[in-house]
Amino acid sequence: MKRIYSSIQLQFIFLTFASCNSSNKYAAKKKKGDYNMVIRKIWLDINGASRMVVCNPEKDTLATVLRKLGLTGVKIGCDAGQCGACSVLLDGEVIRSCTKKIKNVPEYSKVVTIEGIGTPSNLHPLQQAFITYNGVQCGFCNPGFIVSAKGLLDKNPSPTRKEVRAWFQKHKNVCRCTGYVPIVDAVMAAAKVMRGEMTMEDIIYKAPENGNLYGGRLPRRESGVARVTGLENYGRDIEMHMPEGTVHLAIVFPNVSHAIIKGIDYSEALKMPGVEKVITAKDIKGTNRIAYPVGNPRSLAAGGERPIICDKKVFRFGDPVAVVAADTREHARAAAKAVELELELLPEYRSIPEAVMPGAVPVHEGIDNLFLKWPLKKGEDTRNIFPIADYVVEGSFYSSREPHLPIEPDVVQAYFDEDDCVVVQCKSQNIYGSRNQIAAGIGLPIEKVRIVLNATGGSFGYSFSAGSYALAAACTVILEKPVSLSFSYPEHQHFSGKRAPSHSNTRLASDKDGKITGLEFEIAYDKGAYAEMVAGLVTKGLHFVGWPYNIPNVRAIGKGVYTNMCFSTAYRSFGATQAFTHSEAIIDMMAEKIGMDQFEFRYKNIARPGDLNNNSVPFHEYPMEEMMDMMRPKYEAAVARAKAEDTPEKRRGVGLAWGGYTTSLIADFCEVALELCSDGCVINYNSWQDMGQSAEQGALLHTYEALRPLGLPMEKIKTIMSDTKFTPNTGSSAGSRSHYMAGRSTLDAANKLMDAMRKPDGKYRTYSEMVDEGIPTKYMGLYSVPSKFKRPDLNTSVGDPFPQLMYSLFMAEVEVDTVTGKTQVVGFTATSDIGVIGNILSIEGQAYGGISHGIGMALREDYSDLKRHATMGGAGIMECEDIPDNIELLWHVTPREEGPHGSAGASEAFQSSPHMAVLNAINNAVGVRIYEMPATPKKLKAAMEAKAQGIELKPEKYYLGPDFYEDLDDMDENPFS
Ligand code: FES
Ligand code: FES
Repeated sequence: MKRIYSSIQLQFIFLTFASCNSSNKYAAKKKKGDYNMVIRKIWLDINGASRMVVCNPEKDTLATVLRKLGLTGVKIGCDAGQCGACSVLLDGEVIRSCTKKIKNVPEYSKVVTIEGIGTPSNLHPLQQAFITYNGVQCGFCNPGFIVSAKGLLDKNPSPTRKEVRAWFQKHKNVCRCTGYVPIVDAVMAAAKVMRGEMTMEDIIYKAPENGNLYGGRLPRRESGVARVTGLENYGRDIEMHMPEGTVHLAIVFPNVSHAIIKGIDYSEALKMPGVEKVITAKDIKGTNRIAYPVGNPRSLAAGGERPIICDKKVFRFGDPVAVVAADTREHARAAAKAVELELELLPEYRSIPEAVMPGAVPVHEGIDNLFLKWPLKKGEDTRNIFPIADYVVEGSFYSSREPHLPIEPDVVQAYFDEDDCVVVQCKSQNIYGSRNQIAAGIGLPIEKVRIVLNATGGSFGYSFSAGSYALAAACTVILEKPVSLSFSYPEHQHFSGKRAPSHSNTRLASDKDGKITGLEFEIAYDKGAYAEMVAGLVTKGLHFVGWPYNIPNVRAIGKGVYTNMCFSTAYRSFGATQAFTHSEAIIDMMAEKIGMDQFEFRYKNIARPGDLNNNSVPFHEYPMEEMMDMMRPKYEAAVARAKAEDTPEKRRGVGLAWGGYTTSLIADFCEVALELCSDGCVINYNSWQDMGQSAEQGALLHTYEALRPLGLPMEKIKTIMSDTKFTPNTGSSAGSRSHYMAGRSTLDAANKLMDAMRKPDGKYRTYSEMVDEGIPTKYMGLYSVPSKFKRPDLNTSVGDPFPQLMYSLFMAEVEVDTVTGKTQVVGFTATSDIGVIGNILSIEGQAYGGISHGIGMALREDYSDLKRHATMGGAGIMECEDIPDNIELLWHVTPREEGPHGSAGASEAFQSSPHMAVLNAINNAVGVRIYEMPATPKKLKAAMEAKAQGIELKPEKYYLGPDFYEDLDDMDENPFS
């Protein structure tokens, strides 16, 4: 129960979660003590064996019962019937077992889980096909999908692709990684095997006879088998295996967005069953801060302001104010509700324009909410350009707070190991970085913190932030006991970071021939409550607006702003997605104003050799014209299709958007070690954190390729990955850097190893010969980004900060229902240049996945309504039929000088601007531009109705701080030295 008491004079708010009268206490005690618990015995046929189960019929679901039996292939994601991760067959029907109360399961029912479908030594065709066709990324959804597909093929052995999609839609099987296309491919292939039209052998990967694996379709190996059989242990599975005495944690959330903490009363919570301790900020043994410096002298905020547990203030919804430690998860969570908080509410700012208004209360004392301004100057002052331009367009745009929506919510374990180190098992995609960020906060030296990566049910960037790792580690230090912290989906939504929203005001100038002459923009990123990663965001924003066009004169300011919303964190195509939101809208608007075709206007203005980017330096490559030449016939065909299929009720449109991303950044370094073993195998030691993006295949492929002179078969290469005790610092799995950085480091390690193995006659020593001669068998490979790549100038943004660049051009085909306002993406094409492709299977997976997130961002996904967006479904996650089946991927290959084997990075280019291709296609279909994402049916319908009245719904110019030119002049007069 929650009660709110208020005193107007004192402006205090008490949030009370516990009942206080004695009769209620008795009732609660009876329930908590389970005096009246009814136990039910039930016989079930589970995976072909008759098993007796004892359960609590009121509380237990079929999912919890099956998991207690050790059938942890039944995964719990949303725990609310929205994701299908827990799908099982119940008497032949697909059901979501998390919503099926065990009391509603008839005795002697037949249950099939993933464990009953196939085993590692006897894979079902569906399981093999998921591996071979890359239906497996993070793998968290796979057991549910495979069980569901089995249910389909049992009823319909010859489904069409459309029927497969409709089945997954009906049964709510949701995948966040794959964009669904590879999953449908896998089901179609498995169905052929089951019908006898192909053999299992036909769907097993075979290496090409010439041994050239680089550029091929190498599927997952060990992790693939574990994931499709349901045997991969994710966080909640590991929690079940934690030893007796493990303490379960539950966070006390104040559920307000901005408040001073006046008091915390946990006396009632301490009396609750199983409660060991209630931990507050005063118990934390270190600085109680996440160490994440901003590292940019222009910033008024230094960073490192994020508390592990809030001490004085609550800065945002989702901040923790206390943690309850108890013997079970249920006891901890029940007691967390009994903690009373005394809070003084403060004004809360939910958007940038509110937070930067004159007189706004600082979110962090003594620091302006507009805490970072970074100017960009290229070419002539645009004040001389716009007055003489033949055409000028301007607009204000909002890029949304896109939620990552992994299927698995966050889970962390922490404990002391045999070296007296605190071990944190978590989903960190930056294990060395996380160690650095949490050590001082929890009161330990860095070398006493060890981070181990758990199998990860999706991240896409959120697990870059170390908040939950710090929380669990701090509690272990305080309690001196192992702990487990698992979030419910709504808790995960509120606690974890999101993509930074942005507000922008933009102007574009063109001459009468359709050549762009000038660009002005201010882009402000909403950092939410914490500044971490702001410098990278703003750098990318300034770089990517107007990219990859030739724009001779640019004036811009990139900004970072505190609000009381969820802090922003890494997300695929971090910083660039927002830049393309206004860049690719204003480009479209100019084409329209001039009356040029959207393709031709872009073609005319793309950068060509010698043209400079916003940072006043050349692009590293100029594949733009050839990429557009590849896209041209696709575009013309799409336009013809749209014309042919357009009706007054269902309008068709085609939209384009340029995108791209960077690989790695300045001062980046990377380590990978290779060791020759006594059995002739080579082990690759690395911390290439696998979030589902194929880190394992990447490490194997790089090692194989680097050791080609040895002629080592792939089977003789092994990996040990992502544990700071055993693996070196490979850096973060972020910024599309891993393939590039780990590849270069692996080459270095391989060269060192082969140099050591090489005999005078050019042959190679065996392991025994190396040992006999006293030659080391393990070598560390190193790579650092060359020092010529530097942070852009603080006064002008001139400079070249990115060692590698990737390029993508997207085309969306949409159908807009003019009655409902609903948009369906009916086709999608992308052409990309990411250098030489290492593993096309992985790259396609990243492309399908990135495009599917982009479509979601354009149409539905959001985290702005704290209630509605708290769940996976409420936040609008894309389901199977939301994503088109016909996604065509085209590749233009420019070998990269700096990259390993000519490769750059990969995944983030694919999510940079597919959302803008969709929004531009909507405009093409119905003549309505959506300035503030997402383009929900309601918003689009309102805009179409307004247009019918001759009104354009568009935002006024946003207030984003002082006048643009005054700010630029001021920064001119007061430059950073
Ligand atoms: Fe059961 Fe999501 S539907 S966990
Ligand atoms: Fe489907 Fe990750 S592979 S959610």
